Amino acid sequence: MPDGTNVSVPAASGPDQAMSGIHLVIAWQIMRVQSPQPLPGRNGEHRRKTSQGLGRFCYSPRMNLSTAKPFGSGDASFQAAGGEAGLRQLVDNFFDRMSSDERFTTIYDLHPEDKEISRDKLARFLCGWLGDPKLYNEKYGAIGIPRVHAHLAIATAERDQWLTCMTESVAEQPFAPGFKTYLMEQLYVPAEAVRRRCAVNVEQVQ
Ligand code: HEM
Repeated sequence: MPDGTNVSVPAASGPDQAMSGIHLVIAWQIMRVQSPQPLPGRNGEHRRKTSQGLGRFCYSPRMNLSTAKPFGSGDASFQAAGGEAGLRQLVDNFFDRMSSDERFTTIYDLHPEDKEISRDKLARFLCGWLGDPKLYNEKYGAIGIPRVHAHLAIATAERDQWLTCMTESVAEQPFAPGFKTYLMEQLYVPAEAVRRRCAVNVEQVQ
């Protein structure tokens, strides 16, 4: 995450996400002992021992299969989201949904008139936050997510509108199921940080 965001980076932090090379080897050895049958492959077929000696194929749902890196490691999350094009598509769906579904009217109305700029800012922020180009910083400078929301009346209801709108938009994307789950878990962290920062505005300090 870019400097000054004041919320935790979606980096490898939990046990699954922190799976390093040595952990993979250990996990693989455990699978060798515990699993008498070859593990099913992605399409249900069984993967057999290869000539290179890779006995079994095992992966975590928290891993980007194309880069073989856990989400949160390097640019694995950015790649899993389809890069800048994938994130711009997600943000477009998010704002389209927010503007057309009355469940999200409250948070839509909190935004400035020019939603094109809002779309551009969120898409650029997400690129950097997920591990690749710092596009927000290049165009708009440093950002702290709680700070840029500090003037708004965002309570639990508004936080949950935002997360629901984002969850439904993420569900529409061609992302791997494991990445969708991971992404929403990570987004909860800054969303809750925003709510806490705004709590004084809505007298909902907890
Ligand atoms: C908790 C629920 C949230 C609500 C209701 C919300 C709502 C808003 C609103 C109304 C604005 C426009 C502020 C203004 O220009 O006056 C905004 C800006 C922004 N939001 Fe959120 N937001 C939420 C959570 C998040 C999260 C979790 C992220 C990032 C992961 C995020 C990223 C941004 C960014 C990058 C901007 C543009 C900041 C700028 O002006 O440069 N927001 N948000």
